[in-house]
Amino acid sequence: MTNRRNFIKQSLLASGALSFGIHDVNASPLSVSLSNLNDLEDEQLWKLIRSQFPLLSNKTFLNNGTSGPSPFSVIHAIQNEMMDIEKNGRYGGNEDIAINALARFLGTQQSEISLTRNVTEGINIICWGLNLKAGDEIIMTKHEHVGHAGPWLNRAKLHGIVAKPMELGKTAEETIALFKKTLTKKTKVVSIPHIPCTIGQVLPVKEICAIAKSMGILTMIDGAHPPGMLSIDLKDINCDFYVGCCHKWMLGPKGTGFLYVSENARSLVQVYYGGGGVDTGWDMLSNPPKMESYVDNGHRYFYGTQNAALFKGIEAAVLFQEQIGKQRIENRVKQLANYLQEQLLKLSTDIEMLTPTESLSKGAQIAFKIKGKEMSELQKKGYENNIITRYVPENNINCLRVSTHIYNNETELDSLLKVIDQFIKNDK
Ligand SMILES: Cc1ncc(COP(=O)(O)O)c(C=O)c1O
Repeated sequence: MTNRRNFIKQSLLASGALSFGIHDVNASPLSVSLSNLNDLEDEQLWKLIRSQFPLLSNKTFLNNGTSGPSPFSVIHAIQNEMMDIEKNGRYGGNEDIAINALARFLGTQQSEISLTRNVTEGINIICWGLNLKAGDEIIMTKHEHVGHAGPWLNRAKLHGIVAKPMELGKTAEETIALFKKTLTKKTKVVSIPHIPCTIGQVLPVKEICAIAKSMGILTMIDGAHPPGMLSIDLKDINCDFYVGCCHKWMLGPKGTGFLYVSENARSLVQVYYGGGGVDTGWDMLSNPPKMESYVDNGHRYFYGTQNAALFKGIEAAVLFQEQIGKQRIENRVKQLANYLQEQLLKLSTDIEMLTPTESLSKGAQIAFKIKGKEMSELQKKGYENNIITRYVPENNINCLRVSTHIYNNETELDSLLKVIDQFIKNDK
């Protein structure tokens, strides 16, 4: 085994794959198959993974929660497909390839997946498709992103439905208790983030969905963050709708997403946009002209010309994650986040940790404030040092959010900690 490991290490060194030096987007990323990962020592493995990204070696990118840099394999899949389309005058296609990959990745049936451009689009499809009337209540949280809040607040404005934002607890148990308190006889939908954009807290969505289901309440989970961060299985969560994107933690093409509508809930979501792919037949020559029924799968919610190259990119993103392993990714990204959280808690008593310390309630995002400090200033200090994080102004939370993904390492987190330390010490 040691000889085999050495051989692989030598090959990687020879190929340059173990150095951090690949900056050219056209560079060949790897000459050794990722299938040999099990033979590598931990740190070698993560260096190899980092070398799969064109992300510059002097960039400490800790904002995957906004947009995830793609690895070479995704970029090349898109480039190659675009070239093939343009060379051959091809039109459309690859939808099945993307749906198949997503269904496998998320643990669903293919017929339950619709392709979207982003999370906001998927949320709008459900928000407007459900049969709701004035006074019906929707449970949300006080930690929403505009992409989740916006559609519901617009429907509240136009149709008089009522958004009921709940607080989050410091533990899963507390959050479940707060959720129960928000329920009323008028609750028709629970629409909450799996991980909100603000403080990186993982909500106990499986338990919340089970309670809602037992009361006949529909459940939609805003899953902008977990796919590609946590090893999730949508059948296990057992929600009615789950909305995600490929451009954050999945490290896929920008402007791509998915909507999961469970087989049982499909008939509850009215189709409002017609077009190519939505229906089972239409006829402008009959009197009156008519459309048959909707297709009995997720294609009823998307239509028209799409970018087939991006769909190849979605497949490549799923393959990349599958080669590394969903559970291995979850372990690594959480380990980095834990490291950061522990170091921050030791660094200064001025630091207010907003991400729960309970392991059930945290993933790979750490959010914190510093007493008496403007956190957007800390974000700026980071930028000056090539460290990219996210300042969170949403819902007046005003904190800094740090996302840790598989291309990051502890040395990068140490550089961030140094900047934070200096920031706290300055003006004291
Ligand atoms: C929790 C959450 N929901 C929704 C969105 C909106 O995502 P998209 O830009 O893909 O529509 C985001 C984006 O950051 C988010 O963090």
